[in-house]
Amino acid sequence: MKKIGVLTSGGDAPGMNAAVRAVARTALTSGMEVLGIRRGYQGLLSGDVFEMDLRSVSDIIHHGGTMLYTARSKEYNTPEGVQKAADMCRKLGIEGVVVIGGDGSFRGARDLTGAGIPCVCIPGTIDNDVASSEYTVGFDTAMNTAVDMVDRLRDTTESHDRCSVVEVMGRRCGDLALLVGIAVGATVILVPEVPFDFQKDIIDRMQFTQKTGKKHFIIVVAEGVGGVTELAHKIEESTGIETRATVLGHVQRGGSPTLRDRVVASEMGYKAVKLLESGRSNRVIVVREGKVVDLDITEALAMKRPFNKELYDIALKISI
Ligand code: F6P
Repeated sequence: MKKIGVLTSGGDAPGMNAAVRAVARTALTSGMEVLGIRRGYQGLLSGDVFEMDLRSVSDIIHHGGTMLYTARSKEYNTPEGVQKAADMCRKLGIEGVVVIGGDGSFRGARDLTGAGIPCVCIPGTIDNDVASSEYTVGFDTAMNTAVDMVDRLRDTTESHDRCSVVEVMGRRCGDLALLVGIAVGATVILVPEVPFDFQKDIIDRMQFTQKTGKKHFIIVVAEGVGGVTELAHKIEESTGIETRATVLGHVQRGGSPTLRDRVVASEMGYKAVKLLESGRSNRVIVVREGKVVDLDITEALAMKRPFNKELYDIALKISI
């Protein structure tokens, strides 16, 4: 393989830059040319690319966001769009593509491979919602950012003897809420994977802890459950405790990536290029049983995401 492309797609995640850096440097030092593709599949459709050299990826490992920019492309998500992107690859001499993104981006890569352009994917999203991988690049940074934000909320919540209902991101996945909830000592953690009863799981629990002397409360709600403003009203009405709702939002996507995200992204980037170099494609680099390995994209996409119910139950036991 003489020339590869690299793109980031879907929501940006801290650590994507470390992955791009590893891809570019591994390919260049293996004798390949590398094209950086701007704004994901959308940029590929319009041929928005630039030649990368060893210095193109200098001083990016510590930056959040993605130097390649990112997008969610409607046009690419059609058979004509995929064909157009494959034709563009052939026109630009791109013989393989490393795609960094979530499950949606993997589907795009599977289709591009089907259209004759070999692809390898790296899971990059703050949601940790890629079924085939125990870990996605960006998750650790987002968790730590959210913990920092909720710690700040706790200061003011405590000072006013209030309750704070905080929504964290995660799309339909409760991992971010679960781990952040444990780390901030939330009294209640609501995730889409576990149904809840308003009276029993929130009000009774708050009132029980109130009797033991607790005066302020943090409730962490996953984005997939949502409705934090309404929930805050209902809690205030039922308990008489002043309650505020906070949606952390996109701050969770920014910031300098943690050591873990930089290291995982670097290893994945290296392995992605080595797979393409050895002629393998339609693969996704994943973490399984703590190791960075690769799987077939189609198999990976068919997997179901497990939720760590055991950890959720532990959280309930200790945050009381
Ligand atoms: O996938 C990352 C994510 O931040 C999700 O947590 C969230 O649901 C979504 O992207 C937000 O998307 P947008 O950036 O388009 O508002």
